[in-house]
Parts: sequence; C-alpha cells; structure tokens
Amino acid sequence: MTSLLLTGIGSLVTNDPSRGGLLGEVHDAAVVIEGSRFAWVGARRDAPAADSSLDLGGSAVIPGFVDSHSHLVFAGDRAEEFAARMTGEPYSAGGIRTTVAATRSATDDQLTANVARLVTEMRRQGTTTVEIKSGYGLTATDESRALAIARNFTDETTYLGAHVVPAEFADDPGAYVSLVTGAMLEAAAPHAKWIDVFVERGAFDGDQARAILEAGAAKGLGLRVHANQLGEGPGVQLACELGAAAADHCTHLTDADVDALASSGVVAGLLPAVEFSTRSPYPDARKLLNAGVTVALATDCNPGSCYSSSMPLCIALAVREMHMSPAEALWSATAGGAASLRRNDIGHITPGAQADLAVLNAPSYLHLAYRPGVPLVAQTLSGGRLL
Ligand code: NIG
Ligand code: FE
Repeated sequence: MTSLLLTGIGSLVTNDPSRGGLLGEVHDAAVVIEGSRFAWVGARRDAPAADSSLDLGGSAVIPGFVDSHSHLVFAGDRAEEFAARMTGEPYSAGGIRTTVAATRSATDDQLTANVARLVTEMRRQGTTTVEIKSGYGLTATDESRALAIARNFTDETTYLGAHVVPAEFADDPGAYVSLVTGAMLEAAAPHAKWIDVFVERGAFDGDQARAILEAGAAKGLGLRVHANQLGEGPGVQLACELGAAAADHCTHLTDADVDALASSGVVAGLLPAVEFSTRSPYPDARKLLNAGVTVALATDCNPGSCYSSSMPLCIALAVREMHMSPAEALWSATAGGAASLRRNDIGHITPGAQADLAVLNAPSYLHLAYRPGVPLVAQTLSGGRLL
C-alpha cells in the first residue's frame, strides 16, 4: 500500500474531541494517507516519512462534507414554480407530482446522467458522502429503478415511496399505503439501506407513517423521517418513538418535540437552503443545540424546495440565518451528517477513518461562512483518491 503525506496544512479540522475544542483543530499540520484510510494525523514537525508528499502551502483542510439528505434521482426541473414562488406563491408538496411525471417518462440513462451531474457538482464543493432518496417514481418499478441507479453512486440509499400519494391513488390513499408497505417495499428494499416518509399535511399522516416505517424496519431498513417541515405535526415524535436515525427539516417544533429529540438521540437534520429557496422561516437551531440535540446540516438537493447541491451554502446560511457558530455549522456538515447516517468511519480526520477531505483555498474553515458564494474548495479527496 503506498502512502501519501499531505503537509503544509495551515489549519486542519479533525473533529477529534481528544484534540480539544469542538473541531479538534491543529495548526501547521500534516496527514498521512495509506490506501483509502488516514494512517497518521498531527503536527507537521512530527510527521513520519511517506512514499510521496504534497505541500498544501498553508491551506485549510477539513473533513469531506457528509450530505445526509438529498433527492437526486429525477428528471426535468421546476424553475417556473420557483419563479412563481418568488412573486408570492407558497411552496406546497403538490409540485412533487410534476417531477414524478417527468421522472417516470425518463430513460435509465437520462436519470443516471442527471445523478452523475449533481454528484459531480457536490464533489467539486467538498462533499464526499451523499445520501440519495428515491421518491419521484412512486410505482414499484420506478422506485426500485431509482434506487438501483442511486446505488451506483452511494451506499446511503433511501426508499421514499411515501413522498406523496400519486395522482392515480388520489381517491384511495389507503391503497397507496398498502402498495408502499407491500409490493413496492419488496421491489425497493434490495437496493435501499433506509426508508423515509414525508409526514405532513398533504402527504402522510402519523398513522400512515407509522405503518410505513414499521414495515420498512421489518425488512431491515433503517428509519429516517421528513418531519415538521411545513407545520407542526407528529413526525418528530414518531421518529423519536421508533428510534429513527434522523428527523429532517424540524422547521416547526414544539417544546415537547425538542425534548423528545434531546432525550432520544435522534439527529435533527436542518436544511436551511430549503428555507432560503422557499422564502420560509428558518428552524431554531440554537434551541436545538442548547437542548443538547445532535444537529446535522444537509442540502435536501431536489428540483422543488431547494435546487442547491452546496454544503458551503448551507454552512453560510446556518451561521448567518440560524445563529450557529462557524464551528458548529462545520461540525454539523461533517460529523453531524455522519451521525445522521450512523457512520463512525467518516466525518472526521483521525487514523483509521476513511480518507475523505476537502482542501480549501483559504487559511481557515471560518472562510466558508465569511466568504459566502465563493468557490473555496480547491480539491476533494474521497477514500484517499483525488476527485
Ligand atoms: O424535502 N418535503 C418533501 N420533499 C422534498 C421536496 C420535494 C419536491 O418539492 O420536489 C423536501 O423538501
Ligand atoms: Fe427532502
């Protein structure tokens, strides 16, 4: 196995709590990568020899971003819907059906090319792990197809047959829930690690969501929930009761929801680029953090509520609009995402972890929020390989 020494790292964010502070930052640092793993991390003056070395000239290095929530398998876009929203139309889940129609009529190659394009965009912006949901097929064949395509890009695939009730079941939502928990689950489960439900007025209610999540769990899938995005509701409580890994959105929470998240250990996924793109109030990140809830930041990249693939944008919004500190935001975009996916091999730069990192065209991670909109990611390494 060949080794690579990265040296000249002005500031290294390790997320290693034993190094002090939330981010375990090391100044004037070096890292050794062997194969796909980190082999050594520390001060440059202590660095061991390696087969080859690369001097980063004082750049900051951070763990690769872990984007724990996205919907990349779709066709077409909804730019007109966005434009209408910017002149006052509210966001509604109904737009999902537009993308379902486009996705069903697309070929496998078209869907694959669209995922590839978006994953490439993400990598250029420092993302090294992305969770990808289905949810724009809503038939057994189309959902399993979406997941089979997603699985070519990530191990973190999520079955979201319960995104909305498709038009052909509008008169009989119960029959659609039976399909989601029956034949569609059978077809989707072999390609999925997780199951997710959009718990919202206009999508699925608490009883329907419980039936769907329990059916997924019985098939061995981990649980994730779209919870409390457009209004208060049962999503967060259900996620906590069933031991889900993640309750994402969390825009409209009661005090009891915050308490439930804190005591259950369910990770709250905050998706501030959604609020930015739908011109909605941001979730109360400070309240969650003060209560001791683990917070992940993710893009939710999708053609409706948020067509952004940018984790640096999420960090800038989290700091500017949700009053997270730059350190909290970066932790949530890396280690927080890893916690949301229940992964301990990613999200930190420590010996033995997967060698995923981003090199910034900046002396410090602070610049991610300080210089919003500027493409600061110079290089992304995933599993020790330059992307
Ligand atoms: O996470 N909330 C449900 N699903 C997506 C939006 C999907 C769409 O509008 O196409 C979300 O925001
Ligand atoms: Fe989503």
